[in-house]
Amino acid sequence: MTAQHGRSEPMIAPSILSADFARLGEEAEAVSNADWLHVDVMDAHFVPNLTLGLPVVESLRRATDLPLDCHLMIDDPDHWAPRYAEVGAANVTFHVEAAHDPVATARAIRAAGALAGLSVKPGTPLEPYLEILREFDTLLVMTVEPGFGGQSFMPEVLPKVRLARNEVRAGHLRLFVEVDGGIAPETIAAAAEAGADVFVAGSAVYGAEDPGKAIEALRVTARAAMARS
Ligand code: DX5
Ligand code: ZN
Repeated sequence: MTAQHGRSEPMIAPSILSADFARLGEEAEAVSNADWLHVDVMDAHFVPNLTLGLPVVESLRRATDLPLDCHLMIDDPDHWAPRYAEVGAANVTFHVEAAHDPVATARAIRAAGALAGLSVKPGTPLEPYLEILREFDTLLVMTVEPGFGGQSFMPEVLPKVRLARNEVRAGHLRLFVEVDGGIAPETIAAAAEAGADVFVAGSAVYGAEDPGKAIEALRVTARAAMARS
């Protein structure tokens, strides 16, 4: 699984933050038509909320065939991120605001066999990081403040998605451009038109009566918007 210079199909990554944590295996099963399963790791330091860590990711890895997309909202990702790759995450994304040496951390993630992702909070500009993004496979643009599900999409961050997509189109970067936060049937088209190709959705998938159908509906809307852009 590698990022393309051109975009092909949208990828939908349901976030288990909105799932029932007592039934994670079944909740993963309920979204088996997804492309990635998004796993939000929060440490109550980098963000106020606390979720799960390595042992749960390791168990999820055995419970599902879906590639695990681990989004680390934690301090000291330089130390922890490669460990998520070691327990079998397919993509390990950490926050640039928390990292001491993002390039070394990306290399360690890749050396442990996963894709490496860099995430930026809504207030963090992208320009200073365009050069180091050559060392990454995924850029995760937060479209809400990290920490909680169910928040409203922030369209004001879409210029960062456009900038990243233009860099990929120009051949300067080779990246998945992922958006996370407030992605729903009403907002996914704007993100897709701006240039995203991976879409995280928590409440829009797990809050739906049929999560599988919700994924398909998001995919159809994103595909149409990508074709227009
Ligand atoms: C927020 C998390 C998101 C969250 C998205 O900090 O990174 O992945 O689960 O939830 P929704 O889709 O409900 O905004
Ligand atoms: Zn997330």
